[in-house]
Amino acid sequence: MIILFANQKGGVGKSTLAVLFSNFAVQKRNRKVKVFDMDFQQSLYNKYLNSDLLENEKLYEVELANIPGFKSIKKKASQDPSQLTVIDLAGKMDDDNLIQVFKESELIICPFCYDEYSVTSTFEFCYVVKKVNPSSNIILIPNRVKSSVKYETLESVNQALGQFGELSSPVSDRIDFQRLTTSYTPETLVPILDPIFNKIFDDHIETESTWEAETI
Ligand SMILES: Nc1ncnc2c1ncn2[C@@H]1O[C@H](COP(=O)(O)OP(=O)(O)OP(=O)(O)O)[C@@H](O)[C@H]1O
Ligand SMILES: [Mg+2]
Repeated sequence: MIILFANQKGGVGKSTLAVLFSNFAVQKRNRKVKVFDMDFQQSLYNKYLNSDLLENEKLYEVELANIPGFKSIKKKASQDPSQLTVIDLAGKMDDDNLIQVFKESELIICPFCYDEYSVTSTFEFCYVVKKVNPSSNIILIPNRVKSSVKYETLESVNQALGQFGELSSPVSDRIDFQRLTTSYTPETLVPILDPIFNKIFDDHIETESTWEAETI
């Protein structure tokens, strides 16, 4: 199964949540995970190399990949259905090969923030993805939500984005997000993230039919 972390807006938490989701999948759901960093900035891959330097026990491999390389990633993923393939995309939409990526990824996780630019960008992104693949399964995660801020437009934003996919509960803005690695999730983040990731697993990844098909 291919799970994409994507949004054309930069800095919304794609790489951060891709790492946390992958850690969760291995540690809490016992899944085999392979991560591909498709961002030329290589932030996720660099995190992985740093974690390796510290000689932490590896939870999964991270590889660099480019968008045209998706074809072979997809082929490998379909040969091993028990493995989850997590892809961290760049915040750019200027490559025609992305059409295939959006068409053939089973799940698209799209973090966003409630500020105006992020919402507009996220809306455009979801619109394009749905145009390319009307049956795409998008999950929107509100990220960096500050408890001290009253988001006036929250309801209308949720409604507008909700037409493209399911909205998860919000992820708060916390300094602890700077401390995660590809082999470590800070304890303080667990109560925020586990319910969100568990729901994604139960509803979209290990639904009875897919789980049975994958374990046969
Ligand atoms: N919930 C959060 N609370 C606090 N900081 C966060 C949170 N989520 C992400 N961050 C921080 O925000 C910054 C941007 O996050 P990240 O790199 O994951 O975004 P991105 O969408 O992958 O960006 P890009 O488009 O540049 O790849 C990072 O410094 C990260 O630590
Ligand atoms: Mg990133």
